[in-house]
Amino acid sequence: MTLKLGVLISGRGSNLLAILASIHRGEVTARVSVVISNNPLAPGLELARAHGVTAITVDPSDYDDRATYEYEVVNVLLTHGVQWVVLAGYMKLLGKTLLGAFKRRIINIHPSLLPSFKGLDAQRQALEYGVKIAGCTVHVVTAKMDDGPILDQAAVPVLPDDTVATLSARILAEEHRLLPKVIQLIASGQTNGHSPQ
Ligand code: GRF
Repeated sequence: MTLKLGVLISGRGSNLLAILASIHRGEVTARVSVVISNNPLAPGLELARAHGVTAITVDPSDYDDRATYEYEVVNVLLTHGVQWVVLAGYMKLLGKTLLGAFKRRIINIHPSLLPSFKGLDAQRQALEYGVKIAGCTVHVVTAKMDDGPILDQAAVPVLPDDTVATLSARILAEEHRLLPKVIQLIASGQTNGHSPQ
């Protein structure tokens, strides 16, 4: 059966594109039923529409509080029959409403080898710390930022002349492989999000 995904974004949407491309190539037996952005200016919205995917802005500033904002997000996801939610560059912490509606069925991609370098500018944090290996992580989302059971990781070397831009690009290429790979594990029932594979 085809897994129905909802993808939450805030910006560029390159991971969304990687998911759509892997579905198109037949590597992932899923369908992106809806894309939701909290940011009306996110380039990923147009990218989704260009690929025939429904893309909707739910702007938190239109709502009184996080719960009512998330209630609308959940409403859109359920209306589109979404089974699992993928955070692909979604720059907001999740509250109880979303977490409760999709219990252990929300995953996130983060550009570091967690638990190192949580939060913003993970690639800069890694460079400044001086690590020799960096990478990305896909994990199940909990109420804590960049926390929760790790489903898979990919590592890349940090080279002596790396800048934030060059390291970020090397990590991003791995993100684009890792996220579809984990989605396919979920789609094929090889991980249920309760524990690592
Ligand atoms: C990625 O680096 C992802 O790991 C992080 O935000 C960035 C989103 O990039 N959470 P994009 O919007 O998918 O291009």
